[in-house]
Amino acid sequence: MNLFSVEGKVALVTGASRGIGRHLAIELARWGADLVICSRNRARLQETARQIRRHARKCLIEQVDITEIDAVEQMVGRARRESGRLDILINNAGMADVRMIVDLGPEDWDRVMSANLRGAVFCARACARVMKDAGRGKILNIASISALYPEKGMAAYAASKAALVQFTRIAALEWAPDNIQVNALCPGYVVTDMNRKFLESKAGAEYVRRLIPLRRAGRPQDLTGAALFLVSSASDWVTGSTLVVDGGQSVR
Ligand SMILES: NC(=O)c1ccc[n+]([C@@H]2O[C@H](COP(=O)([O-])OP(=O)(O)OC[C@H]3O[C@@H](n4cnc5c(N)ncnc54)[C@H](OP(=O)(O)O)[C@@H]3O)[C@@H](O)[C@H]2O)c1
Repeated sequence: MNLFSVEGKVALVTGASRGIGRHLAIELARWGADLVICSRNRARLQETARQIRRHARKCLIEQVDITEIDAVEQMVGRARRESGRLDILINNAGMADVRMIVDLGPEDWDRVMSANLRGAVFCARACARVMKDAGRGKILNIASISALYPEKGMAAYAASKAALVQFTRIAALEWAPDNIQVNALCPGYVVTDMNRKFLESKAGAEYVRRLIPLRRAGRPQDLTGAALFLVSSASDWVTGSTLVVDGGQSVR
């Protein structure tokens, strides 16, 4: 396991109050990292922190809306001061929006872009500044298979994730001289608050049966291996890449 070790590292996970972010934050703690976790909901973050501390790891809670860039900068500053280092960023916070383009208002578009793209970009920028000083770092952007494969109703969400993938590639180029690896993980359908209602419906079950070759929706645990790979030294020669974890959906 040494190759995939995150022991002694400090990781910031955005959107760690539930779902995929909470799961990955707890897994990083299980494998020896200290955490800084953020979202807008302090009570839910406290529950994540409780589970992190069960692994005897430190956890700083940051109640921050990632669309507020000053607050993001201050959070990263505090993380650096209080932890003394910042090795890993998982840019996970995000929101879904499903509506046809004719029903898509400019405010819907801005809300999705702001959370899924702008927030991730400026969080990466703030962390990369700290990582440059240290001469190393790992940034993992949680995109989506929507970035790569179009589906009706997903215009804003898919555009935000496609832009995040392209941002990942450019950041990888710009920060390679500083030994910062930047990669994207593209999950398929994973059961969380974001889509539980759909996946547990009859239409959702039919969608899974027809379109996911491995014949089930994902669970947050299905992303653990890929995420650990992309934030550990196992991926030291991997940058600007996009790893799809989707039960085979995208090969159909
Ligand atoms: N579930 C899937 O099938 C799937 C598939 C592909 C990609 N993804 C991506 O995976 C990531 C996590 O999704 P999930 O399924 O775990 O969704 P989720 O259960 O709805 O969790 C979303 C997380 O993002 C946080 N968040 C949203 N907007 C935020 C903001 N402005 N500032 C700070 N935190 C914010 C939420 O925290 P608060 O509400 O507490 O602020 C929450 O912790 C997202 O980027 C999503 O697009 C999910």
